[in-house]
Amino acid sequence: MRFEVPPGKVPPNDAARRFWSERTWSEFAAVPAVSQVVLALVRAGAPLEVLGAYTAIADDEVRHALLSRDLAERLGGYVDEIPEGLGYAPQGLALPSDVPAHVWALANGCFSETVSLALIRARYAATTHPVVREVLNETLKDEAMHVRVAWEVAGELLPRLPGDERLDLVSYGQDLGQMLRSTFGTQDLPAALKRRERKLRDETAKAGLGALSADEENAIVDLALGEIFDRLKTLLR
Ligand SMILES: [Fe+2]
Ligand SMILES: [Fe+2]
Repeated sequence: MRFEVPPGKVPPNDAARRFWSERTWSEFAAVPAVSQVVLALVRAGAPLEVLGAYTAIADDEVRHALLSRDLAERLGGYVDEIPEGLGYAPQGLALPSDVPAHVWALANGCFSETVSLALIRARYAATTHPVVREVLNETLKDEAMHVRVAWEVAGELLPRLPGDERLDLVSYGQDLGQMLRSTFGTQDLPAALKRRERKLRDETAKAGLGALSADEENAIVDLALGEIFDRLKTLLR
């Protein structure tokens, strides 16, 4: 049976309902991103087993989006309008793409999944509300598997690339890291947006409803990016 947000009283909280709405957009954006990996892998001639692992990830991301949306509803109402300036764009990520499999696997798999796992693990440890904790725990199990699959695929694809392409990926990785600092984290956002985004996290953290403070979340993003760059160094050298 599919996991659903467990019953139990959830207090209305404006910051938390907005935070979980953002979590919904983020999980939703993962659906087209993972689907792009599937399509690029088909173009690259990947075996069915690898395709299956990635279609299962896409299915998980849909489920995470639904869980996050239900939780936002329970916290006072899901917000479906993405504020301007935030980098969640499911439709944009769904455009036809001829970007090769290793680039999609790097961007979506290695970077997004690894940062996402680090954040969810830390949020789970810091969250006090039992209903929210269960949702985080359920998501955590899936994300750990996603990270494993992503690095396995990267381990297959990246070392086989010609030297100049490997070099290009190092600088592409730097750009990706910078982007993730302002999507998963709140660094480098325009001032007003940054204030609002930081407040969402700080207030949600204070209520124990699934976030860490903005500073803590940024530190986790930076730490995870550092680990990603170290791992990539061995694959791209
Ligand atoms: Fe997810
Ligand atoms: Fe994931």
